[in-house]
Amino acid sequence: MSAPQKSKEGLSSLQIIFLVVAGFLLLVAIGVGFSKSTAPSEDSAADERIAPVASVATESAAAATANAGKRSGEELFNSACVACHGAGVMGAPKAHDKAAWSARLGGNLKALAASAVKGKNAMPPKGGVGDATEEELSKAIDFMMK
Ligand code: HEC
Repeated sequence: MSAPQKSKEGLSSLQIIFLVVAGFLLLVAIGVGFSKSTAPSEDSAADERIAPVASVATESAAAATANAGKRSGEELFNSACVACHGAGVMGAPKAHDKAAWSARLGGNLKALAASAVKGKNAMPPKGGVGDATEEELSKAIDFMMK
């Protein structure tokens, strides 16, 4: 009875080794599968799927950034300055009122732009447009002076 028992034990040892090896291979397979699912190729597939939305979002952000510093005088005026300079509220020199503008700093555009950057009394610095450049402000003032 000892011989069959031995062979049975031997078989079960082989089975254990087989199971350990199989289990190890399974873990490796799962590991490979998992790393594949998070591999860059899968990510780029996801990038492709969200590409239309992502590019729209990026484009509009780029447009906003591209616009900053490149607004025309009229654009900046219409987006901000018009609130006060349109009707001349709080003593703001009215847009297109040449006399009112030439009375300010002798109508010197450079000096007026510098003043607009700093702000004056009820006039907020940069007319409240934080990202406006002095050049843009200058164009907006030029637009209001005419
Ligand atoms: C919240 C209202 C308001 C907004 C918005 C505004 N202004 Fe004014 N601005 C004023 C007022 C009020 C004055 C007159 C200030 C004073 O002389 O006491 C003024 C004066 C000025 C002056 C003359 C400054 C001086 O030294 O005499 C310039 C130049 C000017 N604004 C440019 C701009 C520009 C450019 C914008 C838009 C980017 C703008 N302002 C937006 C209210 C505003």
